[in-house]
Amino acid sequence: MHPIAAIACQRASFDLPRDVSYLDAAAWAPLPIQVRRAGETGLLTKSQPWAYSRDVVPVWAERARSAAAGLIGAQVDDMAILGSVSQGMATAALNLAPAAGGRVLRMANEFPSLCLAFDRLAGARGLLVEEVPRPANGDWTAALLAAITRPAAAPLAVATLTPLHWTDGASVDLERLAPAIRATGAAFVVDATQAVGAQAVDVARLQPDFLAFPTYKWTLGPYGMALLYVAPHRQEGLALEANSGNGPSAIGARRYDRGELYDPVALPMAATALELVAEWGVPAIAARLGALTDALAEGLQALGFQVAPRASRSAQMIGGRLPGGLPHDLIDRLRAEKVFASLRGDALRLSPHVWVDEADCGRVLDVLERLLRDD
Ligand SMILES: Cc1ncc(COP(=O)(O)O)c(C=O)c1O
Repeated sequence: MHPIAAIACQRASFDLPRDVSYLDAAAWAPLPIQVRRAGETGLLTKSQPWAYSRDVVPVWAERARSAAAGLIGAQVDDMAILGSVSQGMATAALNLAPAAGGRVLRMANEFPSLCLAFDRLAGARGLLVEEVPRPANGDWTAALLAAITRPAAAPLAVATLTPLHWTDGASVDLERLAPAIRATGAAFVVDATQAVGAQAVDVARLQPDFLAFPTYKWTLGPYGMALLYVAPHRQEGLALEANSGNGPSAIGARRYDRGELYDPVALPMAATALELVAEWGVPAIAARLGALTDALAEGLQALGFQVAPRASRSAQMIGGRLPGGLPHDLIDRLRAEKVFASLRGDALRLSPHVWVDEADCGRVLDVLERLLRDD
């Protein structure tokens, strides 16, 4: 098999000064210029509604749904449009009715938007919440598999998982875990926030009950919008909010659509962004990001950071830890040098996307070396 060709750097598609090294896609991605323009046209539409047609907005909704479906191997009718991942998780939790005494399973230190709705479900239905601790050998997949199949454990009710840990990019092979989860009869809920747009996610292979992701990170769209994949057998449930668009005649997952769906700013931005990512191609994006994070890993290690080996980290994100801990003001000092990254737990999280090039990686490492030396 030929390796997939990496996409070239797409910096020119963004409004990004050369002296800014922005490796924080896992927090907020900047908007591609064409996505910003779509939003600007939307603002005009709302500013002068007499001068622009509103009829185009529902078309944008279907384009967003369709492009989002394409990124995860779903059908357009299986996608609901919501305002956040937490709404997606709340929708999932609202539509599950596990028997008391079962387990909700997740990785330790998961993002609150994934946890809180299921904590509430656990409280309401008498479930136990089991958090799998970070494994010392970095192999989350093995640790989760052991937890799923542990003999004499309470039955698995809901597995709430992510394809990578949001704090440091540690990878989780959900395709390996999915059959084990299904074999228990548990519901499978995926928060794919840190994956869709940067790594392959395929609902046909995972067969989750629900899978959510927002548009403002790896799919390069606006804040305040998220997509929820809903498996066909879950499409008869209750939406978080009843509105004119998601009544009984709504087709498929549209039954879970949010109110005020027809936002003339956010929908064209989301559709434009999702279509752009699809046009670039996720495998080609992943190949580019993998080469960048490999270079970062090597450089971080040379500076004394501990990083996960290639096999247990994802292409789009890398977490570096220092044995004595990170300087508390590291992120601010990086920012003063126009290097943008995040601190998550005890890890420096670097998350490049298509605007980042080798020069950025070199700069990040040079600045880190200087700051740590001067510390
Ligand atoms: C794993 C994960 N899930 C969800 C979110 C965002 O959730 P929400 O859309 O509810 O703000 C984030 C944001 O950083 C995240 O890292």
